[in-house]
Amino acid sequence: MVGACIRQKKRKVCVFLQKERLVFLGRKKGCDTARQERFWKREDICDMRKKWWHDLVGYQIYPKSFQDSNEDGIGDIPGIIRRLDYLQELGINMLWVCPVYRSPMMDHGYDISDYTQVDPMFGTNRDLEELIRKAKERGITVIMDLVINHTSSEHPWFLEACRDPEGKYGQYYIIRKGKEGQPPNNWRSLFGGSAWEPIGESGYFYLHLFTKGQPDLNWDNEALRRELYQMINGWLEMGIGGFRIDAIAHIKKDLSGGNVPADGPDGLGNGMRFFRNMEGIEAYLQELKENTFQRYDCFTLAEVDDIPDSRLDAYIGEDGYYCTVFDFCHCHHNLRDGEWEGRGEEMLLDIRDRVFARQKAMCGRGFFCNYQENHDMTRIPDRFLKKEDQNFYSMSMLPVLYFYLAGIPMVYQGQEIGMTGFDRNSMEEYADPATFGIYRDYLMQGMTEEAALHKINASIREHSRTPMQWSGEKYAGFSQSEPWFACNPGYPSCNVERQQADENSLLCFFKKVIALRRNSDYQETWIYGSFTALEEDSAQLWSFERSLAGQRLQIFVNLTGREALTKSEVHGTVLLDNYGELAEADGRLALKAWQAVVVKAGEQQE
Ligand code: BGC
Repeated sequence: MVGACIRQKKRKVCVFLQKERLVFLGRKKGCDTARQERFWKREDICDMRKKWWHDLVGYQIYPKSFQDSNEDGIGDIPGIIRRLDYLQELGINMLWVCPVYRSPMMDHGYDISDYTQVDPMFGTNRDLEELIRKAKERGITVIMDLVINHTSSEHPWFLEACRDPEGKYGQYYIIRKGKEGQPPNNWRSLFGGSAWEPIGESGYFYLHLFTKGQPDLNWDNEALRRELYQMINGWLEMGIGGFRIDAIAHIKKDLSGGNVPADGPDGLGNGMRFFRNMEGIEAYLQELKENTFQRYDCFTLAEVDDIPDSRLDAYIGEDGYYCTVFDFCHCHHNLRDGEWEGRGEEMLLDIRDRVFARQKAMCGRGFFCNYQENHDMTRIPDRFLKKEDQNFYSMSMLPVLYFYLAGIPMVYQGQEIGMTGFDRNSMEEYADPATFGIYRDYLMQGMTEEAALHKINASIREHSRTPMQWSGEKYAGFSQSEPWFACNPGYPSCNVERQQADENSLLCFFKKVIALRRNSDYQETWIYGSFTALEEDSAQLWSFERSLAGQRLQIFVNLTGREALTKSEVHGTVLLDNYGELAEADGRLALKAWQAVVVKAGEQQE
């Protein structure tokens, strides 16, 4: 590195240029859409065909809790429309809307009883069309949830299957004869209890990996697959930009193996290795893509845990099954629960190493969808930071950890204002059947009610489902009526209105994070640049470089509440800083507690 000269006032630093080669290879034959038009080749990145969705920055909406418009205490589609200006101002250009189809709401919409209709709770199909149109006018693509591992137990197919388990619709589900009144095997459902439910007195059982209101579909049945493809294409015809594909890793099951080792006194056990990413699933994924997504050049984002590095090309490579997938490598970390309890610093370093390893494996081959929160996990400040450490600096460094990684960034509603969870005093304050299933399993394992509630408070996904905190008004500006699920009592101090009025708020910083990610001067590097981990042996820093065609963008984040010094000198222009002032010592950065900066390296400026 050349000599250091970070100038605080002008916030410019001196030069270091590294030459890189970028060759434009022109149009490739056989491109099926006008948008897929260019190929670039770099020395350190494999060929990557540009696609229209590469520049997406997403925002996930959990509709029940986003904005109520008809004052029934439940969020709805007209409510989302009302907030489109807010979303546009935030700077995102893709919306993922969790399920709004007709549903008995056993799993809050992930149990669909009619794939073609919007549930009246959320509005009408017309409302959805209006949302798509109005979002488009603002440059925002809408994607919907696609739940095709299971339906609701009230779907007409399933009702018919129960009437005649051996008939046509019986073949749409995974239905087996029990053994002497007992289920076909001892798999535990992902939401607690047996994964099998008897069909009345018939002697038959159906499989449900999730709640018993979500019977699993039988993907080995071609007739079923054809019906699903038709439904998917119907939505794509209607103009949606694509899908977030739910639980798709589970569509193939191996039922030949019998029981698994019991993991509790109830004799049930974890059968995951027989129903996740099973051999043979590839044929279904390829067929699904060819019959639907590919025909519309739509955006697909799949929920697939645990894809080994060696399989990434098949999943998200140029001709992969999906455009992108969520990677789960940080999802099981929670300093309030499990193996990381009370070990926050070590945990963040472990996450860093895992995320960087996945970046190295994936960058240049495809795109991960990077995220920190969603409706299935507790809020990120609660998982990553101790309560006493939660402040503007620590909360604002969080988005910098992931927004500039290679891949597509996704924000979950309320994350941008730092919404958190809160402990409940009794189980009655919870609303999710999955929570109760898990609670029952804890009791069955011998936990006291108090200990089980403590664990639920520390880890349950419902914490991210409280109503969006729009203002300090009653019910947080979410609704005039009592919401379906109680607001976080902290809403008078943590809400959108308040943060909009304060230029030093988390919300205003978040907007800067997004704006830098979408800034046309740097966007190519964020999207197509190589990934290099920096100072990997540091016990305090999360730092990496993205580079393309001579442009080098470096991220330095202090993961601790103590000052941290970079090992190497750093030279360049500061593009983002959550403190607004950056200290240096002999050319090295001296980062304050939780300080996060983005530096454009190697550019001589006066
Ligand atoms: C969704 C959950 C849902 C489950 C069953 C998950 O992947 O994100 O919210 O409960 O699938 O559909």
